[in-house]
Amino acid sequence: MTETIHIERLEIGDAVGPTARFLASAFPAAPHLNSDYLRWLYFDNPAGSAIACNAMAGDQIVSHFAITPFRCELFGRQLMAGLALNVATDSGWRRQGLLARSGAAAIEAARAAGLSLLMAVTNRQSTHGFLSRLGFMSIAPLDARIGFGETPAPTPAPVEFRVLRDAARIQWRLARPGATYTVDTSARPPAIYAPSYRWPLAPVVELARCDANLLPPTLPRRRAGLRPRTWLGLDPGRHWPAWRYRTLPGRLRPAPLNLVFRSLAAGLAAPGRSGIHFEAFDFDAF
Ligand SMILES: CC(C)(COP(=O)(O)OP(=O)(O)OC[C@H]1O[C@@H](n2cnc3c(N)ncnc32)[C@H](O)[C@@H]1OP(=O)(O)O)[C@@H](O)C(=O)NCCC(=O)NCCS
Repeated sequence: MTETIHIERLEIGDAVGPTARFLASAFPAAPHLNSDYLRWLYFDNPAGSAIACNAMAGDQIVSHFAITPFRCELFGRQLMAGLALNVATDSGWRRQGLLARSGAAAIEAARAAGLSLLMAVTNRQSTHGFLSRLGFMSIAPLDARIGFGETPAPTPAPVEFRVLRDAARIQWRLARPGATYTVDTSARPPAIYAPSYRWPLAPVVELARCDANLLPPTLPRRRAGLRPRTWLGLDPGRHWPAWRYRTLPGRLRPAPLNLVFRSLAAGLAAPGRSGIHFEAFDFDAF
């Protein structure tokens, strides 16, 4: 049946409604997956438009794979990279090689567009496909911490890989439709929090610490107070106080959060787990 499948690229100006509806049904726990969100994520990014591929059975979307570009530094070199995300196959079409097909099409387009490397944060269902069919290598599961009080301030540490965040990227990231991010300026550097759940003592997610000069002045200020805080990512410059912060056990994590890497350029080595700065702000438009 899959021989009748063809791949379509979503281009700026195309209607994103069908893709948004497809993704919303593939990720029922993600109510933010609507047309405004996709237009913002795919076409407003100051680093460039996403490469978003739909595998089509006739006029029905049966699989989707997107790569959004970002600037990064890898072993001291500034490069264009891509984050693979919104990877899904219709439940009636799974295990027929469609992740492999839509992924391969998006990856070839990313290479042609000059991206040097790809990163992704994969889950139980997708990790194997990324590693076995799409040429990614596994780096490590991301760290997930939960605790009380201010998270430890990042200290200067040598890094092999980090996402370059300029004011344009930060402003775009914080302009996610439907989200109201807040900043706690009592933390140094300021801490950006994701919209928190309604119940009063639910943990707030610290997405990143960010240079105060790069933050939009309109970002609402708010302290996390007594709420527990969670943090997801890797950062060799954070030293977590064991008595206040714990690693979230696997069974309580939202997903395994496996960080995977693929080079698209000759001679690029993968960064090691202990040399990576990467946090929720960079990989999850939550
Ligand atoms: C993950 C997902 C996209 C896989 O799509 P798919 O089209 O079924 O994948 P493919 O058929 O191309 O399979 C690629 C490889 O992954 C394996 N695979 C597919 N589904 C798997 C699963 N649920 N668990 C483990 N391995 C799986 C396949 O066996 C294949 O491996 P092989 O080449 O060694 O046989 C699909 O299950 C899905 O949409 N899940 C819900 C959304 C989701 O979790 N997306 C991932 C977000 S990171």
